[in-house]
Amino acid sequence: MTTIPPRRNLSAKRASAADLLAWYERHHRRLPWRLGPSDRAEGRLPDPYRVWISEIMLQQTTVAAVGPYFDAFTRRWPTVEKLAEADEAEVMQAWAGLGYYSRARNLKACAERVAADFGGRFPDDERLLLSLPGIGPYTAAAIVAIAFNRRAVVVDGNVERVVSRLLAIDTPLPEAKPEIRTALDGLVPTDRPGEFAEATMDLGATICTPTKPACALCPWMRACAAAAEGTQEMFPVKPAKVERPTRTGTAYVALRPDGAVLLRRRPPRGLLGGMSEVPNFGWASGRGRVVHAPEPPPFPGAWRRLNGTVEHVFTHFRLLMAVERLSVPAMTAPPDGHWWSEPQAIAGEALPTLMRKILAAAVETAPEKPTPGVD
Ligand code: ADE
Repeated sequence: MTTIPPRRNLSAKRASAADLLAWYERHHRRLPWRLGPSDRAEGRLPDPYRVWISEIMLQQTTVAAVGPYFDAFTRRWPTVEKLAEADEAEVMQAWAGLGYYSRARNLKACAERVAADFGGRFPDDERLLLSLPGIGPYTAAAIVAIAFNRRAVVVDGNVERVVSRLLAIDTPLPEAKPEIRTALDGLVPTDRPGEFAEATMDLGATICTPTKPACALCPWMRACAAAAEGTQEMFPVKPAKVERPTRTGTAYVALRPDGAVLLRRRPPRGLLGGMSEVPNFGWASGRGRVVHAPEPPPFPGAWRRLNGTVEHVFTHFRLLMAVERLSVPAMTAPPDGHWWSEPQAIAGEALPTLMRKILAAAVETAPEKPTPGVD
């Protein structure tokens, strides 16, 4: 079994895959997409389709949040062929709330490619996997290791933390990535690379946590350079913070007396592409102020601006949305391209989190005053 030496001479021991795997046998997390060590010991492997879905869902999303989505998704589309045949709007709907919606579009495109070009079987080769939509180096490595038990170096954010502490790597991220990768490559075993990948993730998630790591319980404690120095929480060294710019916009929530809200669909490509939304305009930069939208509301009437704004943080900017609300009569016809979503249907709409926040604010917040220029 491979070992790597501690970078500094402070640690008493070398890290070994064997120590980590022994820990994993006792303390692994039981997750719906996994096969535990005893099943793997009998020569079984997890379904690559389920591993792929889980890895895509787990990008930028926590295990706890993914669980119910994974169960519902794989119950509805239990094979890659079924997903390839699915209606894209239904896939987007099943994804609503997980965020980063390009993942859902790529998921469907990838399923179509696997069904059409690979006979419905995921390739077990990183290079071929990388040619598929939505599969990057991390996901390709994770699928190869976890689903096929082939040697691959699987580095996610948790693993970066574990390895940077183990060796007290003081290069800031992302420059440290090659160093971390090389170090981990030196540790990945040839015989149980799938469990090793899962074990490093579990170690990062449950023991080697960002703050207050439980070092006394760690199988690599005596090999860890940061633990020897008491500097665990200094690693990984973060890059200098970049400020997110603030953009502003205005949303129009039209409500019928039965609680139905007016919705429309966003254009298929771009930010939140293909998702549902309330009419809204003007996500222009505004130095933290809400710039009043120049575009008209979907209906004329006495629109009321809610007190405060709805804030949502995207990867590249922070958005502050002013919310205008109007109650309309029961028989009001939706404008072209819009529909009324009744209260019992709203949960099933492909509404991104931003839109759900806006709807919650519109229902819960008292309006301020008639909106000048919108009446
Ligand atoms: N995070 C990313 N992939 C994971 C996996 N397979 N198990 C647990 N956490 C993960």
